[in-house]
Amino acid sequence: MRAYTLLAPAKINLYLEIIGDRPDGYHELAMVMQSIGLCDRVKVRPNGIEDFQIHCNHPQVPCDRTNLAYRAAELLKNEFPDSFAQYGAAEIEIDKQIPVAAGLAGGSSNAAAVLVGLNLLWQIGLTQPELQELGARLGADVPFCISGGTALATGRGDRLEPLPDLDDLWVVVGKYRTLAVSTPWAYKTYRQEFGDTYVSQPQDLARRQQRVHAGPMVAAISHRDGEAIARELYNDLEKVVLPAYPHVAELRETFTKFEILGTMMSGSGPSVFALTSTPETAEQVRAGVRRTITDPDLELWVAPLSSHGIHI
Ligand code: C5P
Repeated sequence: MRAYTLLAPAKINLYLEIIGDRPDGYHELAMVMQSIGLCDRVKVRPNGIEDFQIHCNHPQVPCDRTNLAYRAAELLKNEFPDSFAQYGAAEIEIDKQIPVAAGLAGGSSNAAAVLVGLNLLWQIGLTQPELQELGARLGADVPFCISGGTALATGRGDRLEPLPDLDDLWVVVGKYRTLAVSTPWAYKTYRQEFGDTYVSQPQDLARRQQRVHAGPMVAAISHRDGEAIARELYNDLEKVVLPAYPHVAELRETFTKFEILGTMMSGSGPSVFALTSTPETAEQVRAGVRRTITDPDLELWVAPLSSHGIHI
């Protein structure tokens, strides 16, 4: 039986607005999600035993049942017991390039790759929307990670509308290696501080979603206008993460000293990205930030915006 190697891209949020409460305990969001060319490599192959095995080259990634990639495999096994009985379990090897706990959806993208990979390995024949429906049970970002590219995401972040590709812009992504922000903490703190601004009645939420606030960002993307996109960058979670993590605020401030289109924290952080219009500028910005912040804990990557989701 064959083995599949999949590329699992990281995502950044060009826009993240918290609109209100949802009956399921999650937050109602309006986001613009964007894949970038920084990818993990996920290999799935039959292992001839009863249980799934996870291997990963990154010491902070758990290789047990708590890994979202393992839960993705279990989900598919439970949904398609006949396929599991026919083909057996698989070894899942994750070559990590995306920083962990960074707000870049690395774990969600790995889980998305396992769904796509096992669907091929077990010849189940699920369509992309069917895989996305399963992915939504694992995490709010998983459906986007499957299809990737540029998309408006509403609801929990799992209701997706594709937007035009933006593959002629570049990003510099910075993250302190030993800094991690818990996503539940970021949302909980936001709720404590800004909960009184929330929309919580279902009918009001529906009305609010009809005029999604990401409108100007969506228009800028439709015109593929890098400067307008940079003006519309937005992330509500910056309001709680930047004051609590001064290093993140300092990195964001440092980016503004260079020739960038704009800068923003991604997701719940702590990674921060800067948009540029060419790869050369991105490299210059990376070198400039490296000279300014000499702390070896800071890691920096340059990547293009990407139109790819999980791909072989
Ligand atoms: O779905 P996922 O497990 O990736 O989300 C991580 C955490 O982020 C959730 O447990 C929740 O605390 C928060 N979250 C939220 N509303 C969303 C998405 C995530 O409150 N729409």
